[in-house]
Amino acid sequence: MNVTEAKFAGSSTRVKERPALKLPEFAFIGRSNVGKSSLINMLCNQKKLAKTSSTPGKTQLVNHFMINSEWYLVDLPGYGYAKMPLKEKDKLQKIIKDYLNFSKEMIMLFVLIDSRHDVQKIDLDFINELGANAIPFAIIFTKGDKLGPVALDRQIEKSKKQLLEYWEELPPCFKTSSETSLGKEEVLNYIESVLQTIK
Ligand code: GTP
Ligand code: MG
Repeated sequence: MNVTEAKFAGSSTRVKERPALKLPEFAFIGRSNVGKSSLINMLCNQKKLAKTSSTPGKTQLVNHFMINSEWYLVDLPGYGYAKMPLKEKDKLQKIIKDYLNFSKEMIMLFVLIDSRHDVQKIDLDFINELGANAIPFAIIFTKGDKLGPVALDRQIEKSKKQLLEYWEELPPCFKTSSETSLGKEEVLNYIESVLQTIK
């Protein structure tokens, strides 16, 4: 799939405030600073569509981007930023929960994991909760340019093994870099194949 058109369609804190036009939604979540907004920009061939920052906690709202007038890419706030004040953390958690519990249009959630590190407890807890709630998800390993190719594959294999301690089968997994566009086609083609199944 090619992204020929990507435009900002609105920010919200509650599902009922989302854009009026309903389309299938693919949402991106993960720990603060894992690279959600950067990945969205990479997939859309734009530098500043989604706001990014080296300071964790940048995305504080649910942001909808309309792609090819056919589906929405949804940028969600991150979870698990230890230094964030409790009140603010709580607020973001409520926004995320509301989206995951009530967004009928979300057909796939991409959970982003930093490819440099082991899967953290907070990620495992989050993923296991998705399983308990039967929310369909796929995994995206981010920042693939930060390790050499051998170390990158080794770390990703290790992370997959960690996930297999909880899951009999792995969900679809993608290796990406927003710097080099690694994995762009794979992720977009996967989205296209999921869209085909609901047509
Ligand atoms: P929050 O909105 O705060 O939850 O963060 P986020 O997950 O949206 O992360 P964001 O895209 O803002 O990126 C965080 C930092 O990581 C920024 O400084 C990005 O430039 C950097 N970054 C993101 N993706 C990549 C990548 O693939 N490679 C490299 N080298 N840096 C990346
Ligand atoms: Mg962000």
